[in-house]
This record gives sequence, C-alpha cells and structure tokens, in this order.
Amino acid sequence: MLGVSAALPARRHLLDLDDWTPDELRALLDHARRLDERPRRQSTRALSTLRGHVLVNLFYENSTRTRVSFELAGKRLGAEVVNVTAAASSVTKGESLRDTVETLQALGATLIVVRSHLAGAPDLIARAFRGGVVNAGDGWHAHPTQALLDAFTLERHLGALAGRRIVILGDILHSRVARSNVWALTALGAAVVLCGPPTLLPPAAAALYAARPVPGSGAPRRVTVEPSIERALEGADAVMALRLQRERQQAGLLPTLREYAARYGLNEARLALAQPGALVLHPGPMNEGVEIAPSVAHGPASVIEEQVANGVVVRMAALEMVATEIVAT
Ligand code: NCD
Repeated sequence: MLGVSAALPARRHLLDLDDWTPDELRALLDHARRLDERPRRQSTRALSTLRGHVLVNLFYENSTRTRVSFELAGKRLGAEVVNVTAAASSVTKGESLRDTVETLQALGATLIVVRSHLAGAPDLIARAFRGGVVNAGDGWHAHPTQALLDAFTLERHLGALAGRRIVILGDILHSRVARSNVWALTALGAAVVLCGPPTLLPPAAAALYAARPVPGSGAPRRVTVEPSIERALEGADAVMALRLQRERQQAGLLPTLREYAARYGLNEARLALAQPGALVLHPGPMNEGVEIAPSVAHGPASVIEEQVANGVVVRMAALEMVATEIVAT
C-alpha cells in the first residue's frame, strides 16, 4: 500500500501506528532519512512539497518541542502555518470540536495537526475534515510522530531494530508515548520491555499486544511486562525513560517522588546493567532527578537532544505522506 507519487504509505491521516505494516514504517523512516541527508546548507531552505497547503497546528495542551517541530516541518515544506492554542476547557464537547474544524476548513485549512487531552479527538476531527489530520498526542492514547522519531533515532545508532531489546521505563499506564512506541518498535522486530512500579504498569499489556500481531507480516508482537528495573535493564540495547507527572503522587499511585527516584530512577549504576553502549532516550519534558539522573540525561549514552532534532525531518515525512493523499483524493 504505497502511494503513487512518492514511496510513502498511502494514508491521509496519521492517528496512530497500531495498524501500520513494517513496510509502511520502513517507507516513512527511509523518506525521513532522505530529507535528513540533504546537504546541511540546503536543509533549512524550504522545499515546495506543501506549497499551497494551509497547516493549522491546533494545540489544546501545552507543548514546546512537538509544536515547534511541526511548525518548522510545515514551513520547510513550503506550507503556510498557523498556530492555534486554546485552553482545554473550550473543547469539552465533540460538537464544539466539529465547529472548530468547520471554521478552519472555511478558512482554507488543508492539514490539521492536533494535540488534545481527549483521547480520540484527532479521530473525530479526521471524520469531519476534508483534509489530512496528524495526531500530535491525544490523552493517554497515542503519539505516533513521537514513536516514529524515537524509532528513527534508535535506528540511527543501532541499525535494524530486529532482535533489539528496548526498555520503556516509568509511568506506562498514562503514557501515549509508550503506547505508540510499542506498536512501532514491535512492528520493526524489537522486543519491548515495559517497566515501572506496579501501580503504573498495566499487567495485561503483554497479552493485549500479543493479541494484535503485526499487520502485513503477521509476526507476533514481542512485549513483556517487568516490574523489576534490574531485570528489565539486563541486556537492554536502549532505555526510554518517561516523564513522571507529579499528579500521580497526589492520586495515590506513588508514595513520594523521592522514593520513585530511588526505586525507578534511571541512574548510572542501573544503566551499567544494560548492554555496553546502550542508548538513553526521553521524549521530554524531563524531571531531572526524578525519572532520570542529570548525569544520565546529559551523559555519553544520551540521545535525547538528537530525538528533538530528528522530530523535524520525521514530521516533514509525515506531513508529506498526508498531503500526497489529499491531492490524490
Ligand atoms: C510527551 C507528550 O506530550 O506526550 N512529550 C512530547 O511530546 N515530547 C511526553 C510527556 O509529556 O511526558
């Protein structure tokens, strides 16, 4: 299912990666790599793939890196980019979200990038909108471009991910980043280990993912749930630490942040249990000293800044994919 004009998946929306085939992931990541390999002096000059498109960045939740990288991605492809930020409270009903879409459509929007605290908001927009929609994070549900940029960054250092052991560490239960990463990394053949305190680790996760084999190949998804950080890290090729929100403590899921840091924080001693040269990732924003020690976040194993930089080319590829399908329909 590859598009005609470019070797990109034929998808008008990017809502999640649960139904992506390995070939589609390959095509998108390879396209991002080609964009990244443009000579340095050309890479900030605008291309014209999105010329004539109006891209609306609709952010109902705070964001720095995701919003800025979508804005840069759109501009580097020649689109007109508009940023809309709104208080989450203004979109509590599906109806008002539909009204927003109709308004943006009347103003000529062809691409909507949406971030919302409501899981499913991008899907609802996609059903009401004639253009293309990219999910920039919805509730606890999905954050597909983050997972794509994580896969891109991992492949940069590790090569093919098949057979690699990748640990996702922390608040798995509330993490859209973890969810989308499981779909992408397992489809690329990696074994994903989900690790965190039992209150933040859905025990049924392994079975639920196993029930959804990889589309296209039919391969089983390799996901394990491991509450012991020492056992999880043993032999790991990469560790992705997740942000721990302070609200989790107020909700009674953790005793104290200090105890969390002591039991589950990624520090140098723990990282030493992983493979030599294992990579450290974090989607940001980080709480240094809580889920990750500053010496690890800024140490030699860290590719955290690279993740942010890679977000631009990966989002360029995602926007091109979506725009190609709008033109095609
Ligand atoms: C993540 C998000 O917002 O889902 N951050 C990001 O997009 N870079 C992770 C988080 O907020 O913890």
